[in-house]
Amino acid sequence: MRALQNINHKLSLIRGAPEPVRQEGEVKVQIHYASLNPTDADIARGDLDLFIKLARARSSVRTGLEFSGTVAEGSAKFPTGTKVFGYTHLMKGPKTHQDVVSIPESFIAKMPKNLSFSQAAAFPLGAQTSLVALRDIAQLKRGQSVLILGASGGLGVYATQLARHMQLAITGVSGPDGLNLMKELGADEVVNYRRTSIDQMINQFDVVLELSNQYMFRDVRHLLKPHGTFVPTNPQKNLLAIAGNKFRRQKVGYLFVDRGDSTLLTELAGQIAQGVLSVGPVREFDFEDFEQAFASLQQPGQLGRTVMRLR
Ligand SMILES: NC(=O)c1ccc[n+]([C@@H]2O[C@H](COP(=O)([O-])OP(=O)(O)OC[C@H]3O[C@@H](n4cnc5c(N)ncnc54)[C@H](OP(=O)(O)O)[C@@H]3O)[C@@H](O)[C@H]2O)c1
Repeated sequence: MRALQNINHKLSLIRGAPEPVRQEGEVKVQIHYASLNPTDADIARGDLDLFIKLARARSSVRTGLEFSGTVAEGSAKFPTGTKVFGYTHLMKGPKTHQDVVSIPESFIAKMPKNLSFSQAAAFPLGAQTSLVALRDIAQLKRGQSVLILGASGGLGVYATQLARHMQLAITGVSGPDGLNLMKELGADEVVNYRRTSIDQMINQFDVVLELSNQYMFRDVRHLLKPHGTFVPTNPQKNLLAIAGNKFRRQKVGYLFVDRGDSTLLTELAGQIAQGVLSVGPVREFDFEDFEQAFASLQQPGQLGRTVMRLR
């Protein structure tokens, strides 16, 4: 099989890699599509080497968090031939930039019938993380307001739709290419951060959801109501602010979704099947063109998610 190896921070596609051996509680999946996340670029550069070492991840395939595919060696829950999708463990799980993966059942779900394999690989991480952020961490209620920084990206397209479904008042922020998309997905107000700095914004929100990895708590405090909550997708950068929660009314949430959750993914698949949620824009590359796919992540104005076609 083919596998995208990362040795000494150089990615290379090798052929004839051995297929993974299936462990208890896992199913073997023939991958059709696998996505690219900003975290994959971080891992490829070596930014997370220390964490990978601590997690004792030994495989030379280090990138690929999401996938869609067909079960090749199944279980009672996911029989052979079932179409599945999922999000593997950020550090400890097998990675999906290879033709075949053996993955714990608890990280995957059955694909909604109305999605292509390409679409199914593009949404699990973004949708699950957004659901946890809005519902469990921020605990937003109907009628409350949320500012979503980075609302047109791989997470933002789901956060915006889920916020609309929760009947929140939504302000979305992105670059100029994402403005129309944010409106289509349900944002009431949209802001182009290249024209309007968040320093100039004066409205206050119940929650600021930070998906762009550009802002710290101190940058957004003026945008929070007195009892507002800031939910950053990079909690490590805000640990001091999280530690200070007990000393002030404004809070900082700890969001860390590091693996797929079969129950949540099944719930989200149901929302897709019912048309409550739709998959955002998807850019496709062939697996053989992995270098272009990784390079595209660095370009601003990328809406939704990038995927690679393996089959
Ligand atoms: N904590 C967790 O559990 C967790 C889980 C998954 C992911 N993450 C993290 O979540 C982050 C978002 O992931 P993603 O896949 O959605 O990334 P992405 O697809 O690259 O999206 C980033 C978004 O941020 C926007 N943006 C860039 N600069 C901005 C600025 N100065 N102000 C406002 N918006 C700006 C981009 O718009 P333009 O393209 O127009 O510039 C884009 O809409 C990543 O850092 C990822 O590692 C965290």
